Amino acid sequence: MKTPRKINLAVTPTPLEVIKYQNKKFLMKRDDLTGCELSGNKVRKLEYLIADALKNKADIIFTCGGEQSNHARATTIAARKFGIPVKLFLWGSDRKISGGNLFLNRMYGAEILYLNKNEYEKVNDIMQYQREKLLRKNLNAFVIPEGGSTATGVFGYFSFILELMKQIDLQKVKGIVTASGTGGTSAGMLAAVSYLNIDLQIVAINVLYSKEVITKKILMLAEAINLEYDLNTKIKAENLIVLDGYSKEGYKKISKDKIKLIRNFASETGILFDPAYTGKAFKAYYENYISEDLGMKYIFVHTGGIFGIFGRAKEYLI
Ligand SMILES: Cc1ncc(COP(=O)(O)O)c(C=O)c1O
Repeated sequence: MKTPRKINLAVTPTPLEVIKYQNKKFLMKRDDLTGCELSGNKVRKLEYLIADALKNKADIIFTCGGEQSNHARATTIAARKFGIPVKLFLWGSDRKISGGNLFLNRMYGAEILYLNKNEYEKVNDIMQYQREKLLRKNLNAFVIPEGGSTATGVFGYFSFILELMKQIDLQKVKGIVTASGTGGTSAGMLAAVSYLNIDLQIVAINVLYSKEVITKKILMLAEAINLEYDLNTKIKAENLIVLDGYSKEGYKKISKDKIKLIRNFASETGILFDPAYTGKAFKAYYENYISEDLGMKYIFVHTGGIFGIFGRAKEYLI
């Protein structure tokens, strides 16, 4: 097996905690604690992606996402740490006063191009076109696709399983539950359990794409790691479970019942979930595992997203 180059950005190992909620216990892996400004699941991917950008002598990094994208914010901060400028291609519109991740992107000096929904559907072509324009001026733009989900980035969640194995005997666990946006986080884990031949379910809560689309994306990304890094393994597609129906309100919205759960959970445990990913995934985890007394068999991964909350402050306070 080959391993990609890495730089250190994340505070690891993140804690694996036993949380008590409503008199039930469950396991939570605190990937929200990979850092402070640079926090959440994206940091593990960026350890490999920024290493690649440095190797490629990037003059600038391009990436994309929703206007409250945690990935875009984490990329901006990580790139700035290494003195690399950033251009973001965001689905949304310019605002005089921007909150949350968008505020941080502006504060750290990212150049931002706002795209409407139709334009955003062609974001990869747009980034490619702009990259070619810069190439003519001898400038090298390193393009990171949505969510940092390339074979290289996703390797961060392959390594995550190796870290987790040192914290708990994975033979005693049945599954790992996580929010799934671009699918990279789940794909890295699936590639690792396939390679290590561990019979662990990788449970993905799709918040952005349909069940069919996210299933394909996760399997394709897991296969991409398999090929790129010579795992020579068979990806255990049967170990992938997609729990559908927890983002019916849409990626950019959150239903009142979920906000109620987030608030209740925060006031009982002190742990906060974000509106786009972890709040929705936790609702799924709560209904399917905690309620069924399976919380000590299925690990919930808190993937971060703290700054997304500030764009929704009014709703959180209802
Ligand atoms: C807080 C948070 N959780 C989960 C995810 C999902 O990760 P992935 O895109 O790797 O599926 C993301 C990003 O997309 C995120 O920002």
